Amino acid sequence: MSVDTQKRAAAEAAVERIEPGSVIGVGSGSTVDQFIDALAASDTRIEAAVAASEASAERLRNHGIEVRDANSVSELSIYVDGADEISRHLQMIKGGGGALTREKVIAAIARRFVCIVDESKWVRALGDFPLPVEVVPMARSYVGRQLLKHGGRPTLREGFTTDNGNVILDVQGLDCAEPIALERALNNIAGVVTNGLFAARPADELLVGTDTGVQRFT
Ligand code: 5RP
Repeated sequence: MSVDTQKRAAAEAAVERIEPGSVIGVGSGSTVDQFIDALAASDTRIEAAVAASEASAERLRNHGIEVRDANSVSELSIYVDGADEISRHLQMIKGGGGALTREKVIAAIARRFVCIVDESKWVRALGDFPLPVEVVPMARSYVGRQLLKHGGRPTLREGFTTDNGNVILDVQGLDCAEPIALERALNNIAGVVTNGLFAARPADELLVGTDTGVQRFT
């Protein structure tokens, strides 16, 4: 089974969890693209969606699904998003697509976070994937020096600006054994908007597309 088929299987399983008539949160990335397409192809009609990226918002609108601003909703029943890595504790590294801040905000608003991935994202320990850190542009050098003190090797994501007008530092070599503590420590560096560790607020349910079907973890 191809990676795309695994992503599609996880995405279709997530559609089964969507309550008709609800307002939902939608993340970003290629797995979420499959979710949006699968939702549009299904019989499930939602009231509206809040999207984590301009790309997801455009895809939703192209399917005729209303997109709302996060400020206009007080609660979301469910948030569906992918991940770059996810552990057995359902803690994640996200932000490979650079949408980590909006993703973290929508995950915070949602009652339930369902993560959909192909098998390659399901890892024993977080940290092989370079940790994305969104940074206010004028703080780039300062934050880079602080990340070095944390044992990381930051690299500027060249030619990339987030939907919020910021830059991304991709950080290799960080010790992610205590992900909640690391998430908090990095977020405390002045100039950091947020980092791609989703540990303090992990997923509530994980759907992994595999060659033998969709595996579910809670
Ligand atoms: C974007 C993300 C995505 O969820 C993550 O990069 C996974 O993407 P894909 O489904 O394309 O593998 O965090 O910021």
